[in-house]
Amino acid sequence: RALHKPAAEASSTASKLDLATRLRRNRKSEWSRRLVRETVLTTNDLIWPIFLVDGSEPRTPIATMPGVDRVSIDEAVREAEKAARLGIPALAPFPYVDPALRDPVGSEAENHRNLMCRAIRAIKAAVPEVGLITDAALDPYTSHGHDGVLTECGRVLNDETVAILCRQALALAEAGADCIAPSDMMDGRIGAIRAALDARGFTDVQIMSYAAKYASAFYGPFRDAIGTRKTLIGDKRTYQMDPANSDEALREVEIDLAEGADMVMVKPGMPYLDICRRVKDTFGVPTFAYQVSGEYAMIEMAARAGAIDGERAMLESLIAFKRAGCDGILTYFAPRVAGLLSVAA
Ligand code: PBG
Repeated sequence: RALHKPAAEASSTASKLDLATRLRRNRKSEWSRRLVRETVLTTNDLIWPIFLVDGSEPRTPIATMPGVDRVSIDEAVREAEKAARLGIPALAPFPYVDPALRDPVGSEAENHRNLMCRAIRAIKAAVPEVGLITDAALDPYTSHGHDGVLTECGRVLNDETVAILCRQALALAEAGADCIAPSDMMDGRIGAIRAALDARGFTDVQIMSYAAKYASAFYGPFRDAIGTRKTLIGDKRTYQMDPANSDEALREVEIDLAEGADMVMVKPGMPYLDICRRVKDTFGVPTFAYQVSGEYAMIEMAARAGAIDGERAMLESLIAFKRAGCDGILTYFAPRVAGLLSVAA
């Protein structure tokens, strides 16, 4: 309030610049800043990733993701109810698979009674209006932590993996998933999964493709969350994209759209806002970004250490996705942001 100085005092100084345009004029007060604001963040923009685990504990913390827990199926149903209450459109569940159930080809991914499928059934029975966007990839299920079938010489087999992904997608769809989100980066998987879904009558199940997914250091805390950090052999650079590439992202998106993707995603988020913008401008399709675990950890840990204002940094990071052209964001901040936005409304 003290900032509203009388005009007389403001105009008393001697030398003035002769400026026709002063961009600061529109910024002078909150009402004006609100009027000229170009983008908005709403609860409709949020997809909330959660981590599932079997066992007796309702919640177990993840050390590298302070504020995020692995949850039991019962607790996941409660999270879904919270999402519905807050108006968050969709959840993206990921499983921590019992290491005893992991094998070299990720067989558990095809089990119609696996953790994901049981969670999908429970959530859909309780809160059918919340969308479930479920990851298709083998990494939670493989003993070596790769997203596909690994040969003895360390290559991930493409076509063999796609066949398994199709069966995984069918198990998820059959359990009630609304949207399949292939995050594996195998070539040709979108078309194959679309055909497999259609052949079984799941023509209404959407596909959100992790189209431009980079081989990133920012996935570290996620791998703790699903228990693959220690088991991962080597890295994912033979299938995930090189962070140095941009044109290639457009080719990935173009192919996935041609194969039938309904929505596309760029991942990680904040270091790849230029890719989000190019994708949106080039194709004009529903475009999403994943603010991944390492991005969450950077903001949350810096905030907890007192280095930054966590709430402001969270909101600033999310409006940046909207400004870059994204239609929505997968973010671990989803419930917190939705809470803030509902208070503000
Ligand atoms: C793997 C997958 C990853 C994430 C989502 N699905 C990690 C990886 O590729 O190793 C990362 C999400 C995050 O870091 O929050 N299919």
